[in-house]
Amino acid sequence: MKGGALAEYVLQHLDRQSARTLSRQLYRIFSQLILDGVLQAGEKLPASRTLAQECGLSRNTVVQAYEQLLAEGYVESYTGSGTFVSAAVQVQQQVETVDTLTLSTAVPHWELSTRGIEMVSRAQASPQQWQPFVAGVPDVSLFPNQIWLRLLRRHWKTAKPELLTYAHGAGYLPLREALIEHLRLARGVRGSAEHVLLISGLHQALSLTAHLLAEPGMTVWMENPGYWGASTVLKMAGLKVVPIAVDEEGLAPTAEQMREPPRLIFVTPSHQYPLGHVMSLARRRLLLEYAYQHGSWIIEDDYDSEFRFEGQPIASLQGLDQYHRVIYMGTFSKTLFPGMRLGYMVLPQTLTRYFATGVSELYRDGRLLEQAVLCDFITEGHYAAHVRRVRLHYARRQSVLREVIAETLGENWPLSNHEAGLHLVVHLPVGTDDVRISQAAQAIGLMVRPLSKYYLDKNAKPGLLLGYANVDEALIKPYFRRLVSIIQSAIASD
Ligand SMILES: Cc1ncc(COP(=O)(O)O)c(C=O)c1O
Repeated sequence: MKGGALAEYVLQHLDRQSARTLSRQLYRIFSQLILDGVLQAGEKLPASRTLAQECGLSRNTVVQAYEQLLAEGYVESYTGSGTFVSAAVQVQQQVETVDTLTLSTAVPHWELSTRGIEMVSRAQASPQQWQPFVAGVPDVSLFPNQIWLRLLRRHWKTAKPELLTYAHGAGYLPLREALIEHLRLARGVRGSAEHVLLISGLHQALSLTAHLLAEPGMTVWMENPGYWGASTVLKMAGLKVVPIAVDEEGLAPTAEQMREPPRLIFVTPSHQYPLGHVMSLARRRLLLEYAYQHGSWIIEDDYDSEFRFEGQPIASLQGLDQYHRVIYMGTFSKTLFPGMRLGYMVLPQTLTRYFATGVSELYRDGRLLEQAVLCDFITEGHYAAHVRRVRLHYARRQSVLREVIAETLGENWPLSNHEAGLHLVVHLPVGTDDVRISQAAQAIGLMVRPLSKYYLDKNAKPGLLLGYANVDEALIKPYFRRLVSIIQSAIASD
């Protein structure tokens, strides 16, 4: 968009009656045009004097707006040459909504099921996984790839046919034995190798559970806020998702909600996702008792509990369960790397046989050779050593992030209270548009997720999820300072 047309566009979008200052409005108009790709990287903005004249604004108003764009990294300025859209700006990834699908793909949306339309129109998985502050991803540069390669070679040398076929049943037995031993010591999980089922991750584990244990239309309680990926899978399996609030003690159903027992209850007791609370012992007992009395199954997602930096390790809910109503789920996505696609379930005795059959029938899994490599990795002590090593890095990174938050936003800025995990939540004042902040941050290469998107109902609170595990320690402060300027300007304008 060039000179005259741009001035015209600005004039149409300025609201001189608004309580918002004209420089704020101008800043918003330009930042949105940049985010939408209308103004492209390298494109020159009109000189402040020219734009001011064409739009009937004071030059100061335009300069202030340009300065804000500069501070937030949307533009770069070169003395004598002018102001240009920054090369680092990335155009917003459009989520494929039903409308864009209708326009852009060969399959018209009416060919999709109602569930399918709902899923694609609400899709949230990010195609960008390694940018600074992506929540919940580990630093894969710390992965001991030489050791892995040595173990992989060892198994490919013999390439035993029984490791190169389908994984019939619950997966490679020696790995299941090693895993239950580790979970018993580290997480207080009860059971034997017979109870362990290897699976490709949480999504598949949930899908299998829903298919085997619930009729379509039955209900599942989901933590609110909670992991949207889990809700999507359960909804797609035909279940009705009921959002249940969480407080400092964990899942907090109302008396009215408790009168309608669900078939499944999904919880993250060690480290509530995304807020970080640890479920209290009283709440754990209550939940176990309730599930037993009403025939509900509890799904315990123990997704990043290896990363505790302070205090005592918290045992799993499964370890407390005398009634055998808990289905425990874990993953190697956080401790090793997400692309490994290996997770596990620890099942009550009564379910093991059916789940082993179900996983073969539904998913036809394989990857036994990788499972054998992982088994050696654990039994030879490399896994424990790797987790110990990365934990030190992540603890330091979290404290650097906390430090810069205190330096910029103040000591008492509300943050999630966890000593665990791979992300922090920075809470924001009510009314702040966290989606807009995350879009603006994305434009300068920072991936912060808006907390409001983790809510399943209209009671969303604003905030930002910041992953710190994969950010170079030396870069945490400079990156965060750039983000702060976006946060502050959003708070000022909302
Ligand atoms: C709350 C939660 N649980 C579990 C997982 C792990 O899922 P998977 O095992 O499919 O990688 C994630 C991934 O981001 C998550 O956010």
